[in-house]
Amino acid sequence: MTDFFEFQSKTKILSGRGALLRLPNEIRLLGGSRILLISDETLKKIGMTERIRSILQEENLQIAEIFTDIPTDSSLSVANHIAEICRDRQIDAIIALGGGSVIDTSKGVRMILSQKSDDILKLSGYEGLPAGKGIPLCIIPTTSGTGSEVTGVAVIRDENRNLKMEFISTNIQPDIAVLDPEMTVSMPPKVTAATGMDALCHAVEGYTCLQKNPLSDAYAVTAVRLVSENLVRAVKDGSDTDARIAMANAALMAGISFSNSMVGIVHGIGHALGAVSRVPHGTAMNILLPHCMMYNMDECEKGYADLLLWLAGPEIYAATPESGRAHACVRFIRRLSEQLRAICGLPLTLSEAGVSKADFERIAETSLRDGANLVNPKYVDRDVILSILEKAY
Ligand SMILES: [Fe+2]
Repeated sequence: MTDFFEFQSKTKILSGRGALLRLPNEIRLLGGSRILLISDETLKKIGMTERIRSILQEENLQIAEIFTDIPTDSSLSVANHIAEICRDRQIDAIIALGGGSVIDTSKGVRMILSQKSDDILKLSGYEGLPAGKGIPLCIIPTTSGTGSEVTGVAVIRDENRNLKMEFISTNIQPDIAVLDPEMTVSMPPKVTAATGMDALCHAVEGYTCLQKNPLSDAYAVTAVRLVSENLVRAVKDGSDTDARIAMANAALMAGISFSNSMVGIVHGIGHALGAVSRVPHGTAMNILLPHCMMYNMDECEKGYADLLLWLAGPEIYAATPESGRAHACVRFIRRLSEQLRAICGLPLTLSEAGVSKADFERIAETSLRDGANLVNPKYVDRDVILSILEKAY
């Protein structure tokens, strides 16, 4: 850790029961009157888009356009298409209701509009874009995992090259995040488990990656504690709103952490597993996390040892010899994954997730092009990736 760091988190957060009812006032404060609601077909079918529309309407705010044709993995062309709709319909505020794909797409749209571009592909790469004139963006997550509601990162699939592209800019950090358990209680147990493990992964990588700093650490350790105390509860009983709120806060805090300290090899390989073998992101994180922690062990031992305290609590931490704490941390996470498999069938291995060994070379090749591997605390090459894939099979 260096003595200089940057930290940014500019999203206003409304969290807790009834948070949704504050949405109209927030949209007004942002100056929104011609609103685009971005969501997906499933959420539309179960009445969630209608719920948002009626909350706004009760306060005399109208939705000008609803777009729900978002693919599971998002896509660059969809982001370009929605930006065109925004220009045609003179949209002045965007509300994104959904999981990672919907949220990242909306951030892509905001990026295109603020840069007055016609193609998001021209904007790929790392921070360095001028601020531009952004369109207000409000996020209502329906899963608790990606933390995308507060990050300056959007991962959007390039359907032509079968790659997941990463767009990084503080300019795309949303203005408002609304975390209301009403939006997550219906999340199925397996999705709750997978997205929760994604949040844990963000916190672990956030706590150990290259740009970690005292502020990102504070968010990471609290996120780890919240996941440890609440994930199994939320998976066992989706209607437990206390656990739902805690998991939403955990995902958000882990998002703030990794958005500032970066992620590493777990995401570097996980993105490729998603692109090549269509493994859902949270499932990939759950499978890869312990194996990647073992690979990073010599660089991150101290960090993993610290995290045992937040995962297992002070008694277990104190009873574990200092030299054994980092490995105990990995074992704790493995046991959590085993518990989740027993409760809801979350895959524990790549074979259980339906990955074919014949795809390993292509996964490794794709992963090597992922920026997350470049900033992993320990050097990553093709052989390292292949060996982790073998262990995780
Ligand atoms: Fe992730």
